[in-house]
Amino acid sequence: MAEVSLKNIVKLYGDVRAVDGVSLDIHDKEFVTLVGPSGCGKTTTLHMIAGLIELDGGDILIGKNNVSELDPKDRDIAMVFQNYALYPHKSVRDNLMFPLRMRKIDKTTAAQRVSRASKILSIEQLLDRKPKQLSGGQQQRVALGRAIVRDPAVFLMDEPLSNLDAKLRVQMRTEIKHLQQELQATMIYVTHDQIEAMTMSDRIAVMDKGKVQQFGSPDELFNRPNNVFVAGFIGNPPMNLIPAQLVSEGGSKKLRMGQITYSPQTGHVHDLMNKAAGEKVIVGLRNTAIQMVAPGTAGSILTEVYTVEPTGDVTYVQTNIGDKMCTISSPDVAYRGRLGDPLTLRIDETRLYLFDDLSGKAIW
Ligand SMILES: Nc1ncnc2c1ncn2[C@@H]1O[C@H](COP(=O)(O)OP(=O)(O)OP(=O)(O)O)[C@@H](O)[C@H]1O
Ligand SMILES: [Mg+2]
Repeated sequence: MAEVSLKNIVKLYGDVRAVDGVSLDIHDKEFVTLVGPSGCGKTTTLHMIAGLIELDGGDILIGKNNVSELDPKDRDIAMVFQNYALYPHKSVRDNLMFPLRMRKIDKTTAAQRVSRASKILSIEQLLDRKPKQLSGGQQQRVALGRAIVRDPAVFLMDEPLSNLDAKLRVQMRTEIKHLQQELQATMIYVTHDQIEAMTMSDRIAVMDKGKVQQFGSPDELFNRPNNVFVAGFIGNPPMNLIPAQLVSEGGSKKLRMGQITYSPQTGHVHDLMNKAAGEKVIVGLRNTAIQMVAPGTAGSILTEVYTVEPTGDVTYVQTNIGDKMCTISSPDVAYRGRLGDPLTLRIDETRLYLFDDLSGKAIW
C-alpha cells in the first residue's frame, strides 16, 4: 500500500479550470474522500490520479514514485466506477478473473485471489451467475471484488453507491469502510453526499470550483469550517448563515440581522466582532445552537413559526431570523406549532461563528 501526493495539479478545459491547483497529501492506509457539488472537479481529480486524464500542471506521486507520466496500467491502482462496468456476458468468476488474466497472473494465484475476494465480499455463491442475474448491491460487490483481486496500492472509487437505493447505500457504506480497514488499503473516494463523506472518511477534502476549500477530519470540518462554503456544505441540516451588520449602539458592538438588533453577552462573540475587518459579516449558527426557550427569557429574540417538520427523532422548526430562513431543532419532538405562532429563541453564543462577508473566510 502507499501514500499519494497531489502537488498543485491542474486541468483546463478551454476556459474552465476543472481542477485548479489541487494539493493533497494522503497517508498510507488512509480513507480520504473528495466531496463537493456537481462540477467541482472530483471526477477529474480522480481520473488524473488514475492516469485516465493528462495533467496540465503539477505532479502526482504514489509512494515515492512520480507517476505523472505513467500509463494507468503501470500506476498500481484499481478504480471502481459508478456504473460498475461489469462484462455482461461473463460470469461473476470470469469478471473477477479478467483483470488478473490481463496482467498474466498465473492461474493458481489468480484462483486464490478470486476465492479470497469472494469470501471477503460474501459473493461465493454467486460466482457462476451473470451480472444481470444479480441485484444492484450484488453487482456493486462484484465491482469491488474486481478491484480487490488486483491487490493494488491504492483504491479509487467514484460515487460507487449512487445507483443503489437509500437503504442499500447505507449498508454498503458500512461495508466499504469495513473493507478498507480489513484490507489496510489507501482509499480515495468521491461522493457529492456529505453524510457519506462524514461517516466513512479519516479525512475529507471539500472541493468547490476546482479548488480544495478545506482538508481535514470530519470533526474539524464540522466544528471549525474555514469558510462559509464549508460551513454550509458540511452538516445536516446545513448551518444557518445569516447576513448581519456590525453596529455600535450605546458604546458597545451589536449584530444587526434584518429587523433584529442582537446584543452579544459573551466575550467570545465580542472578540470575533472586534476581529472583523468590515462591517458586513455572516453569522453562522447550527440548528442546535438556536434554542426555543420560555417567553421573556433574558437576551432572547422573538420570531414566528414558518413551518414545523417532524422527522420522528427530531422535530425541525423553520423560522425567519433577520430575513433569512433558518432551521432549528425543537427541544420537544412533539412540538407542532402553526404558521405565525410566536417563538422565543436563545442563541448559544459559545457556538456562534462569524464569517467575513466579502471573502467568506471564518473569523477566529
Ligand atoms: N471532457 C470534458 N470537456 C470539457 N469540460 C469538462 C470535461 N470533463 C469535465 N469538464 C468540466 O470540468 C468541470 C469538473 O467536472 P467533473 O466531472 O470533475 O465534476 P464532478 O465534481 O465530478 O461533478 P459530478 O458530481 O457532477 O460528477 C465541470 O465544469 C465539467 O463541466
Ligand atoms: Mg463526477
